[in-house]
Amino acid sequence: MVKDTTQGAATQSLPNNGRSYIGAAVPRIDGRAKVTGKARYAAEFNTQGLLHGSVVTSTIAKGRIRRIDAGAALRVAGVVAVLSHENRPFMADNDAAYSDDAAPKGAAFRPLYGDRIMFNGQPVALVIAEESEIARFAASLVRVEYDEESHVTDIYQAREQAVPPKPPGNPFEAMFAPPPPRGDADRALAGAPIRHGAEYHTPIEHHNPMELYASTVIWEGNGKLTVYDKTQGVQNVQRYLCSVFGMKPEDVRVMSPFMGGGFGSGLRPQYQVVLAVLAARALQRSVRVVLTRQQHYVLGHRPAMIQKIELGAHADGTLAAIAHDAVTMTSQYEDFHRQETGWSALLYACANAKYAHRLARLDLATACDMRAPSAANSVFALESAMDELALALELDPLELRYKCYSERDQIADRPYSSKNLRECYRQGAEAFGWSKRNPAPRSMRDGRDLIGWGMATGIWEALQVPITVRVALGANGQAEVSCATSDIGTGTYTIMAQVAAEMLGLSIENIAINLGDSTLPQSPVEGGSWIAASISNGIVTTCDAVRAELLRLAGRMPNSPFAGAKPEDVALTGGNLVSRTDAALAVPVSAVMRHAAVDRVVEEKTANFPDDGSYAHNTHSAIFAEVKVDEQLGVIRVTRVVNAVAGGRILNAMTAHSQIMGSVVWGIGMALHEETLIDHRFGRTMNANIAEYHVPVNADIHEIKVIFVDERDDLVNPLGIKGLGEIGIVGVAAAIANAVYHATGKRVRDLPITLDKLLS
Ligand code: MOS
Repeated sequence: MVKDTTQGAATQSLPNNGRSYIGAAVPRIDGRAKVTGKARYAAEFNTQGLLHGSVVTSTIAKGRIRRIDAGAALRVAGVVAVLSHENRPFMADNDAAYSDDAAPKGAAFRPLYGDRIMFNGQPVALVIAEESEIARFAASLVRVEYDEESHVTDIYQAREQAVPPKPPGNPFEAMFAPPPPRGDADRALAGAPIRHGAEYHTPIEHHNPMELYASTVIWEGNGKLTVYDKTQGVQNVQRYLCSVFGMKPEDVRVMSPFMGGGFGSGLRPQYQVVLAVLAARALQRSVRVVLTRQQHYVLGHRPAMIQKIELGAHADGTLAAIAHDAVTMTSQYEDFHRQETGWSALLYACANAKYAHRLARLDLATACDMRAPSAANSVFALESAMDELALALELDPLELRYKCYSERDQIADRPYSSKNLRECYRQGAEAFGWSKRNPAPRSMRDGRDLIGWGMATGIWEALQVPITVRVALGANGQAEVSCATSDIGTGTYTIMAQVAAEMLGLSIENIAINLGDSTLPQSPVEGGSWIAASISNGIVTTCDAVRAELLRLAGRMPNSPFAGAKPEDVALTGGNLVSRTDAALAVPVSAVMRHAAVDRVVEEKTANFPDDGSYAHNTHSAIFAEVKVDEQLGVIRVTRVVNAVAGGRILNAMTAHSQIMGSVVWGIGMALHEETLIDHRFGRTMNANIAEYHVPVNADIHEIKVIFVDERDDLVNPLGIKGLGEIGIVGVAAAIANAVYHATGKRVRDLPITLDKLLS
């Protein structure tokens, strides 16, 4: 039922002269390796004598370990050791050592460091055995006694004590500083003829990647380690391990060639990599630690969020004021937050706005990034509130969005480098058939189902990071492209090969990609939807240098047709260096290298993306959703979703489509299914498995249509790429909630929208 998109140019037979790879629907170059099992994940690397670790976790949320009795576990045949804070080898004793590139302010958790318990499910011991089954069984025999203290894990219990985030201490933290107020929101709200105010609630949610958190540490001898880790940033993990264990950079190599789903869960080094390295160093052997699915539900999560939104409108439907007050949750030891209130500050034209953001400290592990962190949940509140305001104004919800459309970034008062949201609204509405909507709630039916149509806007950032790429072009027409970035499942391998093939004028089959290896040229973590744009432009920059070097070498050939030519005068096409103005002027690359007596040209360049801040860079979307609600039973089906996205230049019509389609599926889960439930008596997740943590399954997914509107952007970067990893989920839950209201006349401001909330 899933339909393809408006991006044309699906190509099975691509010419080998490049120029048509960028934008084409190129199937994943790693697809065969993945479906045949040839692609290996962190827990699939093997070596002789590999040991297996199983984690023992705390059964209390707060307190101290009084005693650990590992006797019974140690008596099990095949058990090699039980490590805990009592007998572990050296680990760093300062907070800075445990920080990492994606760490929030605070003192990062130190696994097996001391006796203090800060969350239920905290690792307290690692049982290491010859077989994973033995380790797991023996772990069940470890007895731990605690001195328990009282804990709080309920955001509703802690909201009154919530505190504003501390001021940012570095540029990374500054990205998440709440925006400054503008105008006089209180006055404008008081004077607005039409007002809407309500509180919106989103629960804790967990990433549910297929691949479990896992690390295989190979003991290479001489103290050297190769660490296969499930991570979105191999160099981040490498630096972290070096500082935690005081190891030299050349002694730790971190690899993550494939990842079975990241979504933000692998941005920070997770504790299993610490435990695996700790055990390998203690025993001087290779060790694997894989967490169980239950243990996943203790680590990072999307924080629950309580949001109060107040909107004031003029009689004509333009906005007079926005007030956004948010409470999110963090641990007792770190201040995790993103720009939770920033999205409502940015999205709509409005002269008066004010924001407040507070953190509730709970006895849980620190929250973390999860696909479109802060936007997915805060835009749910904003776009639900906008729907409610449209009702109060007796205005079509889409019409309200047009009236509040902002041509400039409302926070920094600057233009966008591109913003084609208007076209998202237009094309999305047309594809959906929005004009046929009867505005009255409960007015549309299909048999015993009530039909509802709702819409919402989405927004995300188009960020870029400095990244280094090495390109080696051989005389045999094969090229190798290398960078330490990860492919977290988004299609990075494929887009890298596409851009390189295009730039080098080669067929994509002749491009080899190396990534996910800390010894490769530097890359920040893959996240924030920033890698596609960054790596593509990095490849262009480096391929430009390859071409320039080839031109220099060609200029030294007898009777060179390129004497005096500049790099921009020539292109690489079909294995030749060719004049851009006269295609007859061409020299085979192989001949250039033969004459120069080299068998390859290698260049390594860093793309920096200087940004003077004069333009805002964002992606946008318009989502239209249809629900059918069984009137008697309250069962909701999302029968149609159109997501029209303005995301700059599309690199690969197929992988781009997959990103947005997958995001819409997740948005359906967010709207209707997903919720991590904690038993607050114990501070422990109750539904810590995929059976009871509900996610959409095939039967929940019906028609999803993805549209990419044309959005040319010459300012964001030379290729005009913005990134699509996260924009697809933003706004989806609101569009569905708004559709549910339109179907039933019942407004649910508390996700997920389960049938009890509809029937109550
Ligand atoms: Mo994404 S939540 O930055 O992996």
